[in-house]
Amino acid sequence: MKTNDNKLSDGSKTPEQTIVIKTELILPAMANLMNSLQGGQMMHFMDIAGALTCRKHAGYEVATVAVDKIEFRHPVQVGEVITITSKLIWVGRTSMKVKINAVSENLKSGETKMTNTAFFTYVALDDNGHPVSVPRLCPQTEEEKNAFNSEQRAYDAQKVTNADA
Ligand SMILES: CC(C)(COP(=O)(O)OP(=O)(O)OC[C@H]1O[C@@H](n2cnc3c(N)ncnc32)[C@H](O)[C@@H]1OP(=O)(O)O)[C@@H](O)C(=O)NCCC(=O)NCCS
Repeated sequence: MKTNDNKLSDGSKTPEQTIVIKTELILPAMANLMNSLQGGQMMHFMDIAGALTCRKHAGYEVATVAVDKIEFRHPVQVGEVITITSKLIWVGRTSMKVKINAVSENLKSGETKMTNTAFFTYVALDDNGHPVSVPRLCPQTEEEKNAFNSEQRAYDAQKVTNADA
């Protein structure tokens, strides 16, 4: 598991600094009847990587509160290796959203495939299990800024919807 966790002086981080990379060899016990990785097992791996990204950013325990837009594009066969990359794209007050990608690699042929993408949201929790505020995220690149602003608009719109309900 690789991470890059140098914090800025106020505890905030750039998205690049939140990246967690998790590598797994797919074993028969993780497979379905077609000899490929079970979807739930993949989600478990992704959830662990995303939680670690947020746990390290927040400095608190985190709970998964939402999973969005999860895609399974290609099966991952037993004996292949998957590399899961998790990166923080937005933070609110206590909530954090990560983008997670999974890439499979056939070690014999060297072929790689982007098999999964998903967005997971976590909430930081204090010792009493109550939501607690998290450090800022400082997007640097145009892509990071666009992703952050897009998520902020969705969050603001959801707040208005909730207030109207
Ligand atoms: C996490 C939990 C304590 C939050 O409680 P809550 O009453 O929803 O708290 P709040 O209303 O103050 O919301 C806290 C944050 O979560 C966000 N949130 C809550 N539900 C959400 C959802 N479905 N999608 C996205 N964000 C959500 C809120 O927007 C808020 O974010 P903000 O502080 O950045 O504005 C509670 O939802 C919980 O215990 N859920 C179960 C978690 C769990 O068991 N996960 C699986 C195991 S890890």
